[in-house]
Amino acid sequence: MIDKNNKQFTRKPDSVVVHGYQGCDPLTGAVSFPIYQTSTYRNPGLNSGIKYSYSRCDNPTRYELECTVALLEGGVAGFAFASGLAAVTATFSLLKSGEHVVISDDIYGGSYRQIEEIWKSFGVEFTYVDVGDIEAIKAAVRPNTRMVYLESPTNPMMKVADIAAIADIAKDCGALLVVDNTFLTPYYQKPIALGADIVIHSGTKFLAGHHDTTAGFVVVNSEALEERMGLILRTEGSGLSPFDSWLLLRGIKTLALRMKKHQENALLVADFLKNHPAVENVYYVGLPEHPSYEVSKRQTTGFGGMISFTIKDVSKVEQVLCGGDMIMFAESLGGTATLITYPQTQTHASIPAEIRHRIGITDRLIRLSVGIEDAEDIITDLKKMLG
Ligand SMILES: Cc1ncc(COP(=O)(O)O)c(C=O)c1O
Repeated sequence: MIDKNNKQFTRKPDSVVVHGYQGCDPLTGAVSFPIYQTSTYRNPGLNSGIKYSYSRCDNPTRYELECTVALLEGGVAGFAFASGLAAVTATFSLLKSGEHVVISDDIYGGSYRQIEEIWKSFGVEFTYVDVGDIEAIKAAVRPNTRMVYLESPTNPMMKVADIAAIADIAKDCGALLVVDNTFLTPYYQKPIALGADIVIHSGTKFLAGHHDTTAGFVVVNSEALEERMGLILRTEGSGLSPFDSWLLLRGIKTLALRMKKHQENALLVADFLKNHPAVENVYYVGLPEHPSYEVSKRQTTGFGGMISFTIKDVSKVEQVLCGGDMIMFAESLGGTATLITYPQTQTHASIPAEIRHRIGITDRLIRLSVGIEDAEDIITDLKKMLG
C-alpha cells in the first residue's frame, strides 16, 4: 500500500512523473533508481519478516515503479506485469467459474482472444455491450455479474464511456468496475477518482513510451483487492523484470512532456485528416464533433494522441499504410514515433469478421498513433501516403 503521507501527494503530476514514489533510492541516494538485478536476497535471520526474499514476489526496482503508477492513478497499490495481457490475465483471475462480466464490445483484439479462448473455457461468462449506451449496460447486468470491464477511449473506435455513470451501475450490482486506461494514461484520465475499482494498462504504450519493452499494470483502490492481486502476481509469476521496471521508470519521467506533445500533434493531424478528400471519417476524442466530446471534457484533462480514420477507397489501403517515409506501418502505439496500424489484420485480427464489421473495424479503417515528431513532418508524410 502506498503511504498517504508521501510528499509527492502535495505535488503536481508533472513533478510526480519526474520523481516517482521515493524520489531516489533510499539505500544509496542514487537519483537514477538502481536496477536490483537479483533473483534472491540474503535473509538476516530465521523469521526475520523481510520485505524482499525472492524477486518473483518482490523486487525494489519493481516496487518503486508499482508505487509510482499507483500514485499517479490515485490508487491504494499498483502491480507491474510482464505485458498488458498479463495484467488482463491477473484481473480476470479475480473471478470464479460461473461469474459474469459485462464487457465493452470494442476492446483490444488480444483481450478479446483471451476471453474467448481461455476464460470462457474456465466457465466465466461474458456479455459484450456498447459502453457508450448506459441502458444497454444496465440491461446486460445479471444476478451473477461481478465485473464491468471497459476501455475508454476504446481501441480502435475511440468510443468514450461515461465512467462515473457506469461506476454507479457497477456499485448497485456489487460488481467491480475495471477501466483499461492505456490510451489516455493517468496524465489525462484518473478512472479511480471517477469511481473505478481497478485500472489496468498496457504499459508497453504511453507509459514506457519508447517502443523498447512490454509491460502491464493493475492499480487497485482497496486493501482487500491489494491483498488478492498481490497473491495473484506472486502465484501466476508474471511480474515485470527489474530491467524492464527500470525502463518504465525512465519512460515515465517524460510522460507529461510526451502526452502534451502527442496531443498537440494529434489535434493538428485530426484537423488535417478531416479536411482531406481521401478520408471519410475521423475518430478523435478531441474533435468537437466527436459524439462524446462533452463527456470527455468532463471526465478527462486531455484527449491524447490516438486517432482512427476511414479512407474512401479501399484499393488505397496499402499505399496509405506503407507509403510513408517517416511514419512506420507497425503494431502497437503510444511511443515517440508515429505508427500506422491496420486493425483488421493486426491488432484486431482475432475478432470474427462479422463482429468486427458491426463495431466499425472494416477494411477501410486505419489507426494512427501520433508521435512526438514535428507535426509538419507528420502531415507532410500523411499527404504523400493518402495521395
Ligand atoms: C488497450 C489495450 N489494452 C491492453 C493491451 C495489451 O497489452 P500488451 O500488448 O502490452 O500485452 C493492448 C495492446 O495493444 C491495448 O491496446
